[in-house]
Amino acid sequence: MILNMAASALQRCTIRSLFSTILLLLNLKYANPLHANGILMTTGDSASNWEFLTRFCFLSKVGRFEFELSYPQKFDLGYNAAQNILLYSDLQWPSVYPRPTLKRKKMEEKPLSCYDKESVLVPEYNQVINLTTRYRWSGCRLQTIAGEPWYTCKGGRTFASSRERWWYVVVSNCASEQGLYLNYSITMTNSLSNDTFFKHFSADEFYIIHETIGFLVAYTLLMVLSLYVACK
Ligand SMILES: *[C@@H]1O[C@H](CO)[C@@H](O)[C@H](O)[C@H]1NC(C)=O
Ligand SMILES: *[C@@H]1O[C@H](CO)[C@@H](O)[C@H](O)[C@H]1NC(C)=O
Ligand SMILES: *[C@@H]1O[C@H](CO)[C@@H](O)[C@H](O)[C@H]1NC(C)=O
Repeated sequence: MILNMAASALQRCTIRSLFSTILLLLNLKYANPLHANGILMTTGDSASNWEFLTRFCFLSKVGRFEFELSYPQKFDLGYNAAQNILLYSDLQWPSVYPRPTLKRKKMEEKPLSCYDKESVLVPEYNQVINLTTRYRWSGCRLQTIAGEPWYTCKGGRTFASSRERWWYVVVSNCASEQGLYLNYSITMTNSLSNDTFFKHFSADEFYIIHETIGFLVAYTLLMVLSLYVACK
C-alpha cells in the first residue's frame, strides 16, 4: 500500500518535472539572443530615408548596444547629410511612430518628415550616431572594398536609464534622395559581465527564463515533498 502510494507519487512527479524540463528547454530555445544582422536597402523607387531596424528592451544601467556596419561612401552626402543610427527610447517612439488606429486622422493631416522624426532626439544624449569619420565616436574608417570606398564602423553604446526601457534602432539620412544602404550586424546584451546566462536576452525574455527555472525548482521541491509524505 505504502509502496504503491510512493510509486504513484513518484510517477506523477516524474512526469511533472519532465514536463517542466521540456518547458524550460523550449523557453531557452525560443528566447532569441538579440543579434540582428542583414542589409538595409531602400534604394530605387521605394527609397525612404528613415527606416526602423530593430528594438530591444534594456535593463537599467546595464544595457549594451554594439554594432558592426558597412556601406559605400557614396551614401554619405557630406556635412549634416551622413547616414545615421538613431536610438529612440520608448518615451519618444510614439511621437515618431504613432499607432495608426489611434492617430490616423492626425497622420492623414500631416505625415511626419524625416527631419521631424530626427528632431525628437536629444543629440547630447548620444542618440544620434553619425556614421562617418567626421564623428569620432562612430568608430568608422574608410576602406576600399572591391575598388570602391566604403565606411566600416565598429562601436557601441552603454545604456543608462532609471528603469528598464525599450529602445528602437533606426537608420536615417534625411538629405538623401538615393535612399539608404547599410550592411549591419547589431548585438544587444543586458549585462556588462561575462555572465553568458544573462547575456543576449532582452529584459522581457530574461525574466521568462528565471521564472521557468523557478518553476523547475518548485516542482522538484514538490516532488521531494510528496515522496516524503507518501513514504511517511
Ligand atoms: C549628425 O547627424 C545629425 C542628423 O542628421 C546632424 O544634425 C548633425 O549635424 C550630424 N553631426 C555631424 C558631426 O555630422
Ligand atoms: C556584410 O558584412 C559582412 C561582415 O561585416 C560581410 O561578411 C558581408 O560580405 C557583407 N555583405 C555585403 C553584401 O557587403
Ligand atoms: C570578458 O571576457 C573578455 C575576453 O573574453 C575579457 O577581455 C574581459 O576583460 C572580460 N570582462 C569581464 C568584466 O570579466
